[in-house]
Amino acid sequence: MLDTYDMRKTDMPDEMRVLLDQYPRDSWAAHPGFAEKTRHWLGAHQMFRQLAERVRLDAEACLDRDLSPETHAERLMQYGGALVGNLHGHHGWEDRSYFPELSAADPRFDAGLAVLEQDHVDLDKVLAEFTRHANRVLQLSHLDPPQAREEVAQVHSTSAVIEAFLQRHLGDEEDLAVPIILHHRLRG
Ligand SMILES: [Fe+2]
Ligand SMILES: [Fe+2]
Repeated sequence: MLDTYDMRKTDMPDEMRVLLDQYPRDSWAAHPGFAEKTRHWLGAHQMFRQLAERVRLDAEACLDRDLSPETHAERLMQYGGALVGNLHGHHGWEDRSYFPELSAADPRFDAGLAVLEQDHVDLDKVLAEFTRHANRVLQLSHLDPPQAREEVAQVHSTSAVIEAFLQRHLGDEEDLAVPIILHHRLRG
């Protein structure tokens, strides 16, 4: 299933880690340059991870008949809608505003930012596929329950891809961006 999509399978280039070695993850929170905006940005990432997991677990519960199709459809609309809508807004803002700010402060990491931008493009395709299946679930849950169940299986597999994709993308993005922010005291 994962192979259907262009999910990046390679790690960030080693040279993109030069500041991370200087500002390792466990030192971030105590650094004087670790501002409220960065805390919020990391919090948004955590919310995306949790929403993707929630959507996958709900689809699992529906397929296992631990969650009724009606309840599942309601939750899918709420959590799936929040996941897709907020991710689109987040990626758009990063591409337009956040990445250019990081690049202007330290152009040594432009190759890493290009990798992350491509992740956004590739992730968009999976989000579109997920949205198509989720909409089918909502349309069919009353009209054609057996067909709706097949679509729930697709929601399950695409949400698992989104979850894995986010796992890689968000971690790499944090490892690249936060050290730049701390080093150059951005977004304070
Ligand atoms: Fe991103
Ligand atoms: Fe992000």
